[in-house]
Amino acid sequence: MRNITTAIALIALAACGGDGTDAPQPVADATPAPAPEVVTPKIVFPDGPVGESARRGLAILEATRDSLPNHIGNDLRCTSCHLDQGTRPNAMPWTGIQARFPQYNTRAAAVFRIEERINGCIERSMNGTALPLDDPAMRDMVAYFAVLSRGVAIGDAVPGQGVPKPAMAVGDTSHGATVWLEQCARCHAPDGSGSELGPPVWGDRSYNIGAGMARLRTAAGFIKHNMPFDMPGTLSDADALDVAAYVVSRPRPDFSRKAADWPKGDPPLDVAYPTTAGRREGEGR
Ligand code: HEC
Ligand code: HEC
Repeated sequence: MRNITTAIALIALAACGGDGTDAPQPVADATPAPAPEVVTPKIVFPDGPVGESARRGLAILEATRDSLPNHIGNDLRCTSCHLDQGTRPNAMPWTGIQARFPQYNTRAAAVFRIEERINGCIERSMNGTALPLDDPAMRDMVAYFAVLSRGVAIGDAVPGQGVPKPAMAVGDTSHGATVWLEQCARCHAPDGSGSELGPPVWGDRSYNIGAGMARLRTAAGFIKHNMPFDMPGTLSDADALDVAAYVVSRPRPDFSRKAADWPKGDPPLDVAYPTTAGRREGEGR
């Protein structure tokens, strides 16, 4: 875990105005930890029914399988990847998420409302089946997202949104296997199936091949910034890439509709499966 004192000082700083101009300086820390690149916002639930709905939404996002047993097909929860209740920068935070929708989704070549994006993660990252867009659980998750989006103007980007992705490269999977055993297996098990200390990273109970995390650059960026969970930021770029290459080479559930992805022929360069539309010349990032 990162240094709690520093994190609390930074949260206090953020709560006092954000830009630091007239905010008090954080108290000096005897053993300074490297400051997080971006300040994690404090969650403030409003009083009343919207706040209650948002609290239910957070409970669903943290206990996803128990909350939605008919829709979740693996042993992950939403916050297995969207860390710190979806507030951690560089771990696909939901901070300001309401302000980023409606959003054009290149994978579907369609303008998505936020509920459709949630279903994308339910079907792929959670290897499950989509929720009706007006399901009460959907309403509660969106209420939580709204709480995390207060004060962010429509269309504004938030620092640390998404996950920083390295340039396309080839990772060394055999060195990645060594990194896995030395740095990851103590929590996620040598065979990736997970333990009480960390969720499954591959195999039947993990995300499927259609998930963003199944792509090399997304996995490398997430791992580089967030893993090992108790020592984030300690892996070199090369070790993060190699262990990501090993992880994405492991077996995981299929996604039956994957060939229909990126119908305009613009898949990212690290998509690990062929699509019916293929790749138009010069397309893809
Ligand atoms: C296996 C990891 C993983 C799990 C589990 C997961 N997600 Fe995601 N999620 C991702 C990735 C990766 C992205 C895309 C980030 C990118 O490429 O910028 C994403 C994106 C999103 C976005 C859009 C974020 C944005 O900034 O536009 C939403 C909303 C979202 N997820 C909601 C959920 C919900 C709700 C759940 C649980 C039902 C969930 N996710 C579970 C990995 C995951
Ligand atoms: C100290 C235990 C620990 C170590 C070591 C660790 N992780 Fe994790 N990892 C976690 C936990 C816990 C989560 C989920 C966080 C949550 O549920 O709040 C996670 C989440 C993940 C995820 C997203 C969710 C999933 O299950 O796929 C990936 C990918 C991942 N870790 C990869 C790695 C890699 C690669 C390493 C080694 C470089 C590593 N982890 C080392 C504990 C650990």
